[in-house]
Amino acid sequence: MFENKGGEKIVDEHRQGEIFEVIGNTSKARRVYIESYGCQMNFNDSEIVAAILDQHGYQPTGDLEKSDLILVNTCSIRDNAEQNIRKRLTIYNKAKKSNPSVVVGVLGCMAERLKDELLAEKMVDIVVGPDAYRSLPQLIEQAQHGNKGINVLLSKEELYDDIQPVRIDSNGVSAFITIMRGCNNMCSFCVVPFTRGRERSRSSYSIIAEAIELFEKGYREVTLLGQNVDSYFWTNPEDNSVVSFARLLSLVADISPMLRVRFATSHPKDITDEVINTIAKYPNICKYIHLPVQSGSTRLLDLMKRTYDQEWYLERINKIYSVIPGVAISSDIIAGFCTETEEDHQETLKIIREVKYSMSYMFYYSERPRTYAERNLKDDVPIEVKKRRLNEIIQLQNEVSLQHNLADVGKTFEVLIEGDSKKSNEFHKGRTTQNKMVIFPKNGSFSKGDYVFVEITDANSATLKGHIVN
Ligand code: SAH
Ligand code: SF4
Ligand code: F3S
Repeated sequence: MFENKGGEKIVDEHRQGEIFEVIGNTSKARRVYIESYGCQMNFNDSEIVAAILDQHGYQPTGDLEKSDLILVNTCSIRDNAEQNIRKRLTIYNKAKKSNPSVVVGVLGCMAERLKDELLAEKMVDIVVGPDAYRSLPQLIEQAQHGNKGINVLLSKEELYDDIQPVRIDSNGVSAFITIMRGCNNMCSFCVVPFTRGRERSRSSYSIIAEAIELFEKGYREVTLLGQNVDSYFWTNPEDNSVVSFARLLSLVADISPMLRVRFATSHPKDITDEVINTIAKYPNICKYIHLPVQSGSTRLLDLMKRTYDQEWYLERINKIYSVIPGVAISSDIIAGFCTETEEDHQETLKIIREVKYSMSYMFYYSERPRTYAERNLKDDVPIEVKKRRLNEIIQLQNEVSLQHNLADVGKTFEVLIEGDSKKSNEFHKGRTTQNKMVIFPKNGSFSKGDYVFVEITDANSATLKGHIVN
């Protein structure tokens, strides 16, 4: 899903420009081109949008030139994410010049953040926020009659629970399931609470039904998604019983031992012993936790309003390592947040060394409008210093990742085959339970969706190489 390229454009923008193509009902006349940016949840939202539009006769296409409707599902997390999307909008407008009946729409977090600004700039025809996708067909129709439209209402309830996402850009093996929407945390640097609204959890019945259906269709891995999965909390209206995240994990894992369960993102303040024990208990819950630290400095963590300190974070790490043998932990790290000193930066480097993350997504701080930091703190670390610190973080993380991967050489792992390697169709690619990508030669006996045992013979900081030993 994610690959760590190094640099600030990592976690949520690296799939920029990827085009969704879905095989739909070819007899349908209207075609929609959807481009998605941002986090995994945004990609899953595009699959929900594709399902809503499918019911209204839109067939997805990968060809921008041949589309009747161009949608871009956007991300606002950092300024450069938004700048890239603006560049794409100029390209869509060129397509619109050659075919004025084309409708161009902005969806997602940037739609929510900028609201009618985008319409005023005459960049687009429709603007639709993350909780308003059900109104898309109506807004599109209005736009086709020359009336530009906007719906950026955030909802406390919308979960798109009844909509079966159309699995676009899918390898047929792994799929995302959004288990909650919004975020109630108020990390001082983060725009998400403003673009995604209040946190709400989806019914565990519908999550399990979706996972079962995927399994029956041949999928072998589901990733449960939320900004803070550990605060998943659903009350069954029938008997008032409560489902926690740990319980949900075990319910999904019980579907079949052949179904791998992943999840993202965990928040260090909320990951409970119960969750950690559940991961240890089930062989099919992957031994991989993305536990973003953001900074190693307690002073900065306080300014970031992360509500934990270095000591708390390291206690959680020690607990995880002691309960789950062989687990890999990854992180998100921000360099150069407001008032960050060289000492604070050294604390971040120390945490990377101490935790030995298998990988991290690393960024330099980008001030976002309306956030607590923008209103109350000074973005006072010069850009050259931010970049230099980020480079030091990336360099160290790359060394740590290399050591982490080299330690796997000589070991054998169970790998779920996801498809052919990018470089050669004589090789499979797949992942270990620790979420490490492995490339290995085909031997004719296995295919996509199969589990195989692979002995690791070589590694670099990003990938493992090996051969099948079944
Ligand atoms: N809910 C997740 C993170 C979602 S955003 C969590 O709490 O961990 C993904 C990552 O983007 C964050 O973890 C953070 O590292 C980074 N990020 C968020 N806002 C940022 C900003 N203003 N500047 C730079 N990086 C930011
Ligand atoms: Fe943003 Fe914090 Fe919520 Fe993550 S937990 S989405 S960083 S506010
Ligand atoms: Fe970006 Fe919105 Fe996700 S800001 S990271 S697309 S929730």
